[in-house]
Order: sequence, then structure tokens, then C-alpha cells
Amino acid sequence: MMYSRMSNKFMIFGRCIWISFLVLFVVACARQQEHPKQATININTDVPAVIYNPMIFGGFLEHFGTQIYGGVFDPGSPLSDENGFRTDAIKALKELKIQVVRWPGGCFVDGYDWKKGVGKDREPADDMAWGVIEPNTFGTDEFIKLCRLVEWEPYICTNAGTGTIEEMKDWVEYTNSTSGEFAQMRKENGNIEPMNVRIWSIGNENYGKDAIGWKPIKEWAPYVRKAAKEIKAANPTVKLSAAALITRKWSLPLLEQAGEYLDYLSIHGYWMPLWQKHYTTDYLSCIIKSEEPELMIQSFIQVLDESGYRGRIKIAFDEWNLRGWHHPGFPRKELQDYDDPEVAKLVKAREKNDIASQYTMADALFSASFLNACLRHAEDVEMANIAPVVNTRGPLYVHPDGIVKRTHFHALSMYANQLEEQVCNTALKADWLANEKDSIPVFDGIATVDKSGANWAISLVNRHPTENVHCTVMMGGKPLNGKYKATVLAGDLPDSYNDIDFPNRVVPEEVEVRIRKGIAILPPHSLTIVHVPLIIK
Ligand code: AHR
Repeated sequence: MMYSRMSNKFMIFGRCIWISFLVLFVVACARQQEHPKQATININTDVPAVIYNPMIFGGFLEHFGTQIYGGVFDPGSPLSDENGFRTDAIKALKELKIQVVRWPGGCFVDGYDWKKGVGKDREPADDMAWGVIEPNTFGTDEFIKLCRLVEWEPYICTNAGTGTIEEMKDWVEYTNSTSGEFAQMRKENGNIEPMNVRIWSIGNENYGKDAIGWKPIKEWAPYVRKAAKEIKAANPTVKLSAAALITRKWSLPLLEQAGEYLDYLSIHGYWMPLWQKHYTTDYLSCIIKSEEPELMIQSFIQVLDESGYRGRIKIAFDEWNLRGWHHPGFPRKELQDYDDPEVAKLVKAREKNDIASQYTMADALFSASFLNACLRHAEDVEMANIAPVVNTRGPLYVHPDGIVKRTHFHALSMYANQLEEQVCNTALKADWLANEKDSIPVFDGIATVDKSGANWAISLVNRHPTENVHCTVMMGGKPLNGKYKATVLAGDLPDSYNDIDFPNRVVPEEVEVRIRKGIAILPPHSLTIVHVPLIIK
């Protein structure tokens, strides 16, 4: 008796708690409907739009993991063509409309001998940076062939680690000259016509103490000057970049000494530090990083300004990704004992880069904001390269039996295919999104217009994991009104992802959006590109 009375009391108590939670939840939902998150994008049609360089939609491929071997290049696979290129990957990569691809590294290039990767008698070589054997079956000729196939502009990063300036010049001669020892070598390798590789970079991340051939700035600046001067003297039409940091301490002396010979400075950014320790990241802790690329770009622009080179030297953001690549214990600077189980274990750990469930809506929306930052600074940023394009952290996953387009594949594809060619001046205002101590605007957006001024494409990002954003779209001081064609990428949940079994969980959807009195309702964790055919006057 006693026991059942007690349990009744507990039941009533439990029910009360449950009802209170329900009431709180209903009140919270009602409040959310009454006070939805707000944002405004004000498109200033009086300020002339800026033509941006489509190389902002660029990519990077490194001899690392399965990016090349077992990725884009897989001779013997039933899915590869007669040259060993994966046809399914090529088809998908074409969709991304990537303009320029940087190759062959990355840290890999600091120990790479390009001459071992050309010709008939190629031998495998040690890849010191990553502690594996480089088969050398994919070299300069294969890279150029791949570029022609996918319609990429090739961009070669040279070895400023174990390599010499002489070797850099030989490489440029191999690809670009009509005569000379290395031009002859190219012809003998079956490429009679020059390959015309227009863009080159001196070194990778030579400022990093882990890099083979690390140099402090007092050595790096004169080294870059010498290399750039000699390369330009031999090939005046090439465009040159050099490894840089956004700090004044690094880039001012570099520009002061080598600026007259450079066209770009290369910077890199990864915002989730997963190099040594691999962990699962939640949507909010990723998305909260979305504004950091722009801060980086802005502070680098200040340095360019101070140097006097702003306007002449452009930013090549030639490695970027939300997530740092996982490569515990590496890069290294010496040869490895490949049979050492410790080395084998570390190399195997890199497979974690390809765990499908990591690539969620956070990757897609972070990528959209990264591109927005580049586009907003299109006068200074001329190139940006998602690092990498295939496998590891890339938007396209290529496995032995097929491909998976990760969430960020769709975001990049929407940008490259749907934005117009000029970026407009906009002012953004938004409520905040918080994660622990940090907060950022809940919304990001960009507006583009074609040269005729008649076709507009507006990209709207709602970063909130669970709530709609009511976004007011103003063009030339007037609210947009009407029904417009749009594409929305959202997935069911912020953590939705695509994998081999379910490759289409997150795909863009073609919709018609109704914008009333300027207000577009953006679903949670979404990217929307709206097409507006006419300016409202
Ligand atoms: O983590 C990937 C490596 O990161 C690339 O090789 C290098 O260029 C960058 O620091």
C-alpha cells in the first residue's frame, strides 16, 4: 500500500516535470515564431560591381594519401580510361568548374625531384615529407594531361626545400620552352608543343619549421628574390607566387626584397586543427569559425597596403579548408624505415581523413562563407584553392567502386555554376549565433550580377542549426518582392552527410522562393542561391 502511494506521488511529480518541459518547449517555439532570427542584406546598386577572378574557385592536389594514386589516377581500375584517369571522377570534377589546380604539393614538393617523374624510365623514390614511397608514375606530363581533360589551368609549386633554383628554371623550361635541353626532353617524352604553364610558386610553406628546407625570413626573402628574378629573366610571361605568412614580420621584408618580381603571395588556412589529434567535431564548433578567413584576408590586405604593393600583388589563398589534414607525426625531414610498425601505424592513421560522417553541413556552409570572404575582397584575392580537391578533406571522395560528392562539393558547385561574374557591394546585418564563449552573425550573404546588369544571383547562408532566419533582401534601397528560382542545400540535419551507402542525403534542391516585402525565410543550416532577373528601380 505504502509503496503504491509513494509511486503514485512519484508519477504525479514526474508528470508535472514533463508537462513543465512541454510548456517551456511550446513557449520557446512560440517565441521563436514571434521573434525569429533576423538578417538583412542590402545590395547597393549605386556602387559599381567588381569583376572577380574565377580562379577563386580553384583547387589543389598533392601526392598524399589517395588524392592522386587511387584517386584521380588509377591505372588498371575498370573505371579508368586508357591513361589511367578515373572517368567518374573527371566527370564530377568538371561539374565543379574549377579554374586552376595547384600541384604537386604541399609538403611533398619540398623533397620532390620533378625529373624523376618524367620520361620512360621512371623509378620510385622516397617521399621524405610523408614517409612513403612515391611511385613516380604520375608526374608533370600526366598532370598536364589531366588539366587538359578537366579544363583546369595548371599551377605548379616548386621545390624550395631539397631543390635548387636551377631545377626550378629547368622545370619551367621543360613545360614552356620551344628549345633547350629540357624542352628537348619534353619533346622526347611525346609532348612536342609547350605546355604553357602560366602560374608557378616558389616553395610551399618554407616558413614552417617542420618543412624540409625551412628558412627564416632573413634567408627566405633574398632566396625568393634570386629565384623569382632568374625565373622571370628566363620566362618573362610566367606569373610567380611565393610562400608567405600574413604577418608584417614575414611579408614586409619578403615584399621589400622580392616584390618587384612577384605577382602573388601564397597564404594557407585550415581552421580545425586536426593534424596530430583526430577528433569528432560538432556542427557549431565548426560553423563558429566561418568568419575567420575574412579576418585573415583583411589583415593580410593591411600588410600589402603598408608594403606599397597592394593592387599589384594579389593574394593566392592556395590552400584552404575547414579541416586540417590528419597526418600525426608528419611531415618529417628524413628518410623513414618503411618497415617500422610505428611509421606504418602513423601512415595508416591518415585514413581517418576519409571518414565520411565528418563532412556535414558545417563543411558546406563554411566553404560558402570562405568563398564569400574571397569574393568580398575580389580586388585583392585572385585565387583560392580548396585543399585538396579529391579525397583526404576534399569535396569529392573517390573510392575503388565509385565516387561520393561530399556536402562541400555541392556548395562549391553551386557557387561556380550559379553565381554571376561580378560581385556587388553589400551591407549585412544579422542576429548572433553563439557557441560557448564565441559568437558570429547567424547569416552571411553575397550578391553577384552579370555584365548586362539584368541577371542577379544572391547567395544566402543561414548558419543556425535549428532555426529559420527571416532575411530581408534589399536591392537599390527597395525590398525584393515576388517568386524567384532558387537552389537550396540544407540536408535534414546540421550533421547530415553523404557516404557510399547514401550518397544523396545532402543534395541541392531546385525550388521557387516567395519573397514578401523583402523577407526570404531561410531554413536552418542552409545555403540558398536565389536568381533575380531584373534590378528593381
Ligand atoms: O596538412 C596538409 C599539408 O598542409 C600540406 O602539404 C601543406 O602544404 C599544408 O600545411
